[in-house]
Amino acid sequence: MFDLSGKTALVTGGGRGLGLEMAKALAGAGAWTVINGRSGQGLEEARKRLQGDGIEIGIAAGDITRDAPAIIAAAVEKTGGLDILIHAVGERDRRGTEAMEPHEFAALLNTDLTAAYAVAKTALPYLRRSAAGRLIFVTSIAAFAARAGDPAYTAAKGGLAALTRSLAVELGADNLTVNAIAPGWFATETNAHLAADPALKAFVDIRIPLKRWGRPEEIAPAAVFLERDAFRRNRKGDSFFCANQIHHSGR
Ligand SMILES: NC(=O)c1ccc[n+]([C@@H]2O[C@H](COP(=O)([O-])OP(=O)(O)OC[C@H]3O[C@@H](n4cnc5c(N)ncnc54)[C@H](OP(=O)(O)O)[C@@H]3O)[C@@H](O)[C@H]2O)c1
Repeated sequence: MFDLSGKTALVTGGGRGLGLEMAKALAGAGAWTVINGRSGQGLEEARKRLQGDGIEIGIAAGDITRDAPAIIAAAVEKTGGLDILIHAVGERDRRGTEAMEPHEFAALLNTDLTAAYAVAKTALPYLRRSAAGRLIFVTSIAAFAARAGDPAYTAAKGGLAALTRSLAVELGADNLTVNAIAPGWFATETNAHLAADPALKAFVDIRIPLKRWGRPEEIAPAAVFLERDAFRRNRKGDSFFCANQIHHSGR
């Protein structure tokens, strides 16, 4: 049902964490997948680990917030096309309003929101050449709910959720779907120290029915689900399922 053989994919921020799990799932379902991250060594290590599991992927190193055209072109050169683009890059700065200057706020918005727009715009000509182009952003539950002391990330992910809706209605008529996956609390390498914090554990225990952080591999099937061609068109041929978000609340 979820065979992606013959599809080509790029996952930005795919060297570790949620992006790597999504890339692994796409490649495992048969898509010829390239992962991007800034560290070439990190990507190479991820590639070898997946190879050990019998999964082949390509790599395209570089800072996607600065070099999107070169990175996307390099990925397309490896795979021969671009059917699926998952943009998983995102950074967080948990400083509150007293501590964060406006230019620092703008810098985070640039990484988490403006770069996503640049990636989408750069990828558009390639995705249009696909029979069923798929663009997926990784937002956050922070797009819909706020914790104190997190203004920049909350604003950026809220903006990314709104950008998802805007691009979905703009590009749907071109046979292209735009979706977002909004993770809850996932214990990736980057926030392993937070997962170990007793105060945050108490917070998660109250809010997450399973009383634990999500495991990165648990989010991967959502990425594959959004590729399924059957979800793109209903019987009348109208585009649907193009402006939804998967609220993945840490389970
Ligand atoms: N983990 C969670 O609980 C959670 C919750 C909600 C939303 N999210 C969102 O999910 C996404 C992934 O989170 P994660 O926890 O998996 O992150 P992560 O573990 O920190 O992984 C981030 C990946 O992105 C790469 N990266 C960072 N900046 C980059 C850049 N400028 N250009 C290219 N690659 C870059 C990193 O590799 P290099 O360092 O080598 O570049 C790494 O491979 C983010 O958008 C995050 O906001 C995560």
